[in-house]
Amino acid sequence: MSEAMEAEFDTVAQWTAQVAADLGPEFHIPAACRGSGSPAALDWLIDQMRLAPGQVLLDCGAGVGGPAAYAAMSRSVLPVLVEPELGACRAARTLFDYPVIQAAGGALPLADERFDAAWALGVLCTTADQQTLLDELRRTVRPDGRIGLLAFVAHRDVPPNQLEDNNFPTPSRLVELVKDAALEVEHWLCTVDLPAIPPEWTEREEAVTEALADRHGDTRAWQLAERQSKRIARLLEDGTLTGELLVLRRG
Ligand SMILES: C[S@@+](CC[C@H](N)C(=O)[O-])C[C@H]1O[C@@H](n2cnc3c(N)ncnc32)[C@H](O)[C@@H]1O
Repeated sequence: MSEAMEAEFDTVAQWTAQVAADLGPEFHIPAACRGSGSPAALDWLIDQMRLAPGQVLLDCGAGVGGPAAYAAMSRSVLPVLVEPELGACRAARTLFDYPVIQAAGGALPLADERFDAAWALGVLCTTADQQTLLDELRRTVRPDGRIGLLAFVAHRDVPPNQLEDNNFPTPSRLVELVKDAALEVEHWLCTVDLPAIPPEWTEREEAVTEALADRHGDTRAWQLAERQSKRIARLLEDGTLTGELLVLRRG
């Protein structure tokens, strides 16, 4: 993993949990979703994956655990978090009380068909191991369970020296990856078609970002992580990248 990704997914993840813990419980989920999950995207996935109370949900590449906590809050699922970065694992344990396993999505230390459902949000483009990650999600979810993805895809080449550590698939490559994992697309939505994010959510997220900048703004880790997320935001704005939500099931 590059220094920028390490900064974002490890160091800043831990700082984020500390800031959220200091600001109070209403900040925990928005802070821990700074990785990629928005309430509108999560609501759509929760509905389309038909998540139901008591179901066990694998959150693969869970980051600080915000999306899993959101699903537990809104649909009473029982999340299990898998995350390779120690700092993010610690951050998730600071804010939430779910099992957290430190592992990579391409080699899950988990039994076959153990989960009712799984999702990987904003994870695919951060790893070269995309096929094995999808294969592992398929293996660990029960045969009629759903798999949710938030995938950032590239519609043209990402300019050089921008985000060379990321692996953004093209839309057709994403379709191929899904097919090669013996999965089928059940639902697909581009995130631009989602409803707006509630203002109170945005305000809380911004308060967390301000507190992080106040405390850590002069550090290299914060500057690298900020540069990374600003570059992605710019590429989303100019249409080079789009965020795609997919619900998959076994073919
Ligand atoms: C953009 S963040 C998204 C975090 C979280 N899913 C969210 O939506 O808030 C990507 C996460 O994927 C994790 N990651 C990177 N490579 C991975 C892999 N091979 N398997 C599982 N997770 C991975 C990173 O450590 C990071 O926490």
